[in-house]
Amino acid sequence: MTTSAASLHQERIAYLEGLVSQARTAAAVFTQYTQEDVDRIVKPMVVAGLEQAQHLARLAIEETKLGVLEDKALKNMVATEFVYNYVKDKRTVGAIREFPERGLVEMAEPIGVIFSLTPITNPTSTVLFKCIMAIKTRNAVIFSPHPNAWHCCYEAVKIMYETALKHGAPEGVFTCLESHDLQDNVYLMGHKDVGLIDATGGPGVVRAAYSSGKPALGVGAGNTPVYLEKTADLNMAVVDIITSKTFDNGTICASEQTVVIDDEIYEVVLKKFADLGAHICNKKETEILERTVIDPETGFMQPTAVGQKATDIARMVGLSVKPNTKLLMAPIQGVGRKHPLSVEKLFPVLAVYRAKSVDEALKVCVDVNHAGGLGHTAVVFSRNDAIIQKFGEVINAGRILVNSPGSIGAFGGVYNDMVPTFSFGCGTGGGNSTTDNVNVYHYLNIKRVARRTQAHMWFRVPNQIYFNLNAVENLRRLASRSTVVITNPAMEQMGHVDVVRRQLPPQTLIHVSVIPDAEPEVKTVMEGVAALNFYKADQIVALGGGSVIDAAKIMKLKYESPEADLEELAAPFMDIRKRVVEYPTEKVHRARLIAISTTSGTGSEVTPFAVLSDKERGRKVTLADYSLTPDVAIVDPQFVMSMPKGLTADTGIDCLTHALEAAVSIYASPYTDSNAMQAIRLVFKYLPISYNHPDDEEARSMMHNAACIAAIAFSNAAVGVNHALAHAFGARFGVAHGRANALMLPHVIAYNASVPTKFMPSPNQRGYVAHKKYATIADLLGLGGDTIEEKVQNLVTATEQLLDQLAVPRSIADLGISTENFERAMPELSKIAFDDPSWRSNPRMPLVSELVELFWSAYHGRGVAKTKGSRKQTA
Ligand SMILES: [Fe+2]
Repeated sequence: MTTSAASLHQERIAYLEGLVSQARTAAAVFTQYTQEDVDRIVKPMVVAGLEQAQHLARLAIEETKLGVLEDKALKNMVATEFVYNYVKDKRTVGAIREFPERGLVEMAEPIGVIFSLTPITNPTSTVLFKCIMAIKTRNAVIFSPHPNAWHCCYEAVKIMYETALKHGAPEGVFTCLESHDLQDNVYLMGHKDVGLIDATGGPGVVRAAYSSGKPALGVGAGNTPVYLEKTADLNMAVVDIITSKTFDNGTICASEQTVVIDDEIYEVVLKKFADLGAHICNKKETEILERTVIDPETGFMQPTAVGQKATDIARMVGLSVKPNTKLLMAPIQGVGRKHPLSVEKLFPVLAVYRAKSVDEALKVCVDVNHAGGLGHTAVVFSRNDAIIQKFGEVINAGRILVNSPGSIGAFGGVYNDMVPTFSFGCGTGGGNSTTDNVNVYHYLNIKRVARRTQAHMWFRVPNQIYFNLNAVENLRRLASRSTVVITNPAMEQMGHVDVVRRQLPPQTLIHVSVIPDAEPEVKTVMEGVAALNFYKADQIVALGGGSVIDAAKIMKLKYESPEADLEELAAPFMDIRKRVVEYPTEKVHRARLIAISTTSGTGSEVTPFAVLSDKERGRKVTLADYSLTPDVAIVDPQFVMSMPKGLTADTGIDCLTHALEAAVSIYASPYTDSNAMQAIRLVFKYLPISYNHPDDEEARSMMHNAACIAAIAFSNAAVGVNHALAHAFGARFGVAHGRANALMLPHVIAYNASVPTKFMPSPNQRGYVAHKKYATIADLLGLGGDTIEEKVQNLVTATEQLLDQLAVPRSIADLGISTENFERAMPELSKIAFDDPSWRSNPRMPLVSELVELFWSAYHGRGVAKTKGSRKQTA
């Protein structure tokens, strides 16, 4: 509590507490009202306001001595009828807006008790407006009017309260302080039961509201610039400006303050103003106004001039004007303290500026806007859309009004379709919380009931996949004028290139581009792109393992979209649907990409991924986008019959890892499961045969299919933590990818099957299912087991047995890496593994400490524990 509030007399405190208590009780009762209940009360209040519009205007004029009776009556009518027209069909109770397609419902909750300060300039209209808003939103209000507008506001509150009460509003819903005391305001602004301060008034009141520590709706001062551009309808503009600036003798804070006129029309416009009752001041008259209606000390307008008639002001300062003068117009040469009339003047004195160019006009308008009117209102009269748009861009105002009056235009609902209001938010420029025309939604706490949504999923594969022995013959069906074959030296030596060449239609121009058998570098890619351009290729055949196919994917990307920035496209992302970078979408499809895989592992022939080596920076980047997916995949086992044993094992394990990780991925779906599960079944059956009997055509064929099918699964479901670990470890110790996967695999299955320390956020999964998925796989493989735990353990054991049969190293220690060496590498290893995007689709989120544990489990190797849900080693 502040000192001034603390000095309040006990009796006064009791009085204020009584008001708050009454309002709180009313607000509590109000929460039980329905939409129909409040609507039933609002309508008669509006009618009462309309009926009493003139009466209240008269009271306001008598008390405040500001403004014009007729205009004040009009304001009371706008505050009731126009506001009602806006709110009558609005839902403000319970569910107010529903977005079924987004699973979102917005619920309205009243604020409770609102402490409201109202101004001297629009006294009764502001009260009427706020009472209607409060009933519509089921809030109770304690009013504290401006001290010089007390009685008229008290009467307005009384009329609204009695009408509301008569039609069922809770007792005590509106009260008005019986007398004015600044300390009352301080006390109520700090009261714990006041939910919101709604302060409409001068800067002092607004600042006090925002300083109270309570949520506050305070609106700032204005200084409305008007640009009268040469293409404007001049007659309309002049009438609008006079109407608006003289409305209620200029008391509305949105009214025009400086009109900036294009040089070409300046004289004619001033004549039109003069013809309609404006007095154009000469230099001497302007100087008189500058030192009289503006306080030379503060630079602000003189309160004595506020809301006075032009003729009265002229008489007050000693100017001689015609008796029917409506407006005093004073030419100024600039904006700021040296040009006193460039500030806000809530009376019918309008500054005028002659601009030599559009740029100058806009600059002066911006300067006026910044001289006390930030965030409030600005006006432009023009028929030039480009200038209107530019004006909207450079001016900082919540309301930018086009070809319409400032004051009456800002109200909303009269000259435009803005929300009717008597409270103009000025945004942060004006030190306010909103730029809105304050309305019923600002009197509500809007709650959002958000139902769980499911992300859209997909299943994307190449258009054509040809498989089984001699599938390469399908090349004959694919017409091409110019084909570039991307391959590596081994394929040439083994005669595979000739096999492909023979299958291409005879009329095809064929060029063979041999690239190194390694992860493609930018240089390799750009040489390939040069060849594609030189031969004007309409078909690219990638013949090789993952690195050759990846190179061809990137060559095609750069061939079709030369402007594609590979480094930018490789930017990290979490969800491919929301990622920052965009792959070219309007590229020309210049060449068909046919991928013929010669290993049974990566499945690059069907994936949307491509790894690029950046030797200069010593790193690899992965490109991922479905536009990289080859158009045609050929899965012909003749190209893998001669794979050496080691490569057969390594690539086969990679394939198994892809399938197992896709099966438990958070992006797994029935579509990917069907592929993942079948791939796992094929690997367990055919990999040992392929390994032990390399000439077994069926086994080779099935393993080749398995690699492709597993790749289809992980292209759509992604991989997991096994790959994150293997990527980091493989790169650091130079271990082949499949072999590195093998070292991690049993440990990762056990890890994923146990209760996660941290679950991975995943809207598509209902509950944790990784262990159940593994159990299903165990069933599919016929491994036995009665419980999920047993089945998981049997899968781990079967995986270990499979790895044993393939004679791959079963521990990192087996590779000859010393404990000390591994320990030294661990901080970097775990850091790189945690940075690897692969685990983002893993069913459990790995802690860095868990990655370290997994690395050490892989270091020590075999013997994953049979303990339920544990990863503890038995040996
Ligand atoms: Fe892999």
